[in-house]
Amino acid sequence: MDTLIGTDPSVAAEHLTNGEAVAIPTETVYGLAANALEEAAVMKIFLLKERPVFDPLIVHIESIDRLPVYAEEIPPSAYLLAKTFWPGPLTLILKKKSLIPDLVTSGLDTVGLRVPSHPLTIQLLEQLPFPLAAPSANPFGYVSPTTAHHVADQFHGKIPYILDGGPCRVGIESTIVGFDEQGRPVIYRQGGIALRDVEAVAGAAKLMLSTSSNPKAPGMMKSHYAPKIPLVCGDMQSLAKVHRHKKCALLCLTPPGEIPQNIVTVVALSPSEDLQEAARHFFSSLRTLEQSGADLIIAEWMPDRDLGPALNDRLRRAAAANEDPS
Ligand code: TXA
Ligand code: MG
Repeated sequence: MDTLIGTDPSVAAEHLTNGEAVAIPTETVYGLAANALEEAAVMKIFLLKERPVFDPLIVHIESIDRLPVYAEEIPPSAYLLAKTFWPGPLTLILKKKSLIPDLVTSGLDTVGLRVPSHPLTIQLLEQLPFPLAAPSANPFGYVSPTTAHHVADQFHGKIPYILDGGPCRVGIESTIVGFDEQGRPVIYRQGGIALRDVEAVAGAAKLMLSTSSNPKAPGMMKSHYAPKIPLVCGDMQSLAKVHRHKKCALLCLTPPGEIPQNIVTVVALSPSEDLQEAARHFFSSLRTLEQSGADLIIAEWMPDRDLGPALNDRLRRAAAANEDPS
């Protein structure tokens, strides 16, 4: 199959209407999209990504007005969050209506919904009579794509079209928020909206960010987001010593003062210590470092503020791939 890269939402719309999967830009990461209401189209996403069918997909809609079409029993705090953050990097987990196929939600009675903030994808959704199921456009478990080229690296020849919306502005996936019986927020994945900002709108949130013990929500799986070479996290100087016989690449927030000899490449995510900027460069930096010729990536923990915890969560899961490749 020829893969075209272009900027025309109506070309994407045509392929999607024909039941194909195409890549779409969002503000967080690129998605691999298909008609969310058609099981055969959704199945293509699982096959292309080699994604286990127990990992549910997020459904993308063009406006908050569509919410009651696909979800019911929507708590007031969900509307508050949607009004505050949509279009934007927030996914709401809500009780699903039956027109959403079970394949999309992996048999759960809830669905993840989000209005992405990207003009091309909003134009696309407005042209379509159906919403788009779209996970990140990377093979399951690998680093998420933040440019059309990242998508092409992986899916060239396998999908007909990549809608190119430029580099992603946020750079990490959406924050996923569900609700308990009382309508209080439960965080399933830290992402592009900081926990504090969610709590400022919806009140204190419970964290349900756990691990392999919960295969129903594998954004939460222990090993994920993993580059092709091993990654370890912690203090750079001591890790460089431990791994002194290896060629190491360093991922850090600000450039280090003194660089050990065995560190061959350094990527500083934000010299001005801006964690939004760090998030924007995070996944593409992992790709750069895995191609740098190093044997190992040493990553320093990010500070515990703003998007720091979301980045640390991804680092932890990337590191877990060395211990537990499953
Ligand atoms: O920013 C994003 O959210 C990107 C862009 C493309 O929108 N999408 C994305 O999709 O990150 P994906 O498939 O890589 O991650 C979706 C996560 C999965 O980990 C899944 O477990 C969780 O959302 N999820 C989806 N539906 C769920 C549900 N009903 N209950 C709990 N978790 C759910
Ligand atoms: Mg993903």
